[in-house]
Amino acid sequence: MYAIKVHNLSKTYKNGIQALSGLNIQVKSGEIYSLLGENGAGKSTLIKILTTFLKPTSGNITMLGKDIQQNSIYIRSNIACVSQQTSIDTNLSLEENMMFQAELYKIPKAEAKKRMAKLIKDFELTSYLKYPISSYSGGIKRRLDIAMNMITNPKILFLDEPTVGMDIQSRKMMWDMVRKIRNEFGATIFLTTHYLEEADNLSDTVCIMKGGKEIIQGSPSQLKHYLRQNNIEIKLVSDLDVKAVLEFSQKCQYVDNVEIEKTMLTVTAKEVEETFNKLTIYLIDNNIPFYGIAIVEPTLENVFLRLTKKEQSL
Ligand SMILES: Nc1ncnc2c1ncn2[C@@H]1O[C@H](COP(=O)(O)OP(=O)(O)O)[C@@H](O)[C@H]1O
Ligand SMILES: [Mg+2]
Repeated sequence: MYAIKVHNLSKTYKNGIQALSGLNIQVKSGEIYSLLGENGAGKSTLIKILTTFLKPTSGNITMLGKDIQQNSIYIRSNIACVSQQTSIDTNLSLEENMMFQAELYKIPKAEAKKRMAKLIKDFELTSYLKYPISSYSGGIKRRLDIAMNMITNPKILFLDEPTVGMDIQSRKMMWDMVRKIRNEFGATIFLTTHYLEEADNLSDTVCIMKGGKEIIQGSPSQLKHYLRQNNIEIKLVSDLDVKAVLEFSQKCQYVDNVEIEKTMLTVTAKEVEETFNKLTIYLIDNNIPFYGIAIVEPTLENVFLRLTKKEQSL
């Protein structure tokens, strides 16, 4: 069952900029789905359309089994969105903010209080209750913003760049929070990010997007598998040996590409074991000192860079 299905979606803004051009994606119910793309790829535009803030120029969107244009009221009452600008009122306390959100959605007071207590506990906000919101760090404000949006028990939660500008510790806390929302509240999570590590760590499905279009969609391991070849990394002791090793590797039969960074050579080859053996024998036979030689899996970053290169067409 799909929570979101987008077919051939395009959006041209009034100034003529085409932010989305024929985008197709599918998001399964209950999964964490990451939309990965550089600035200007069209991520925020897509979120605004999916959350009914913006109208598409053309295309079809089905969410929770319904067409979103014809059922926008139903859709709005079953989703929540945390955008890059927080919706917290800093003049109100943490609890007042949460109750205000509940009132907006006409949740009975007793029920709202019950949900609020659970959210404060689940998302470890208890110790912040006694401080004014204006004293909260950016990370805590974001956590409160998400907790506030969870008071309506949304079936789909949209997060637009939830960890942008955060230090690594706050980022990891945010990842735990997102996993908790999926596991304990059963919500489908749709998030955008331009951090590869985030998409890799957190998602069941990643969609790489560029120029208003999806380039590839799959699980992080499927996407890594897409590159198929593994890489061989050689860490040499001296930069005086780099040239010789580079020339030898480039002559090896199955080698597609060699990249150099200081004394580290990354060799991409089709027959990785055979090439690995050849390179090892070469280093030993020629008495070239090296710290290590190893076969390494491609990272999601390799996939991203390869697929978003301009000349690349799929
Ligand atoms: N309100 C708007 N009016 C005109 N152009 C816009 C508007 N919002 C975004 N754009 C343009 O649409 C493209 C996609 O932007 P956006 O969806 O914000 O990308 P992302 O979130 O991936 O950075 C960019 O070229 C951006 O300048
Ligand atoms: Mg954006």
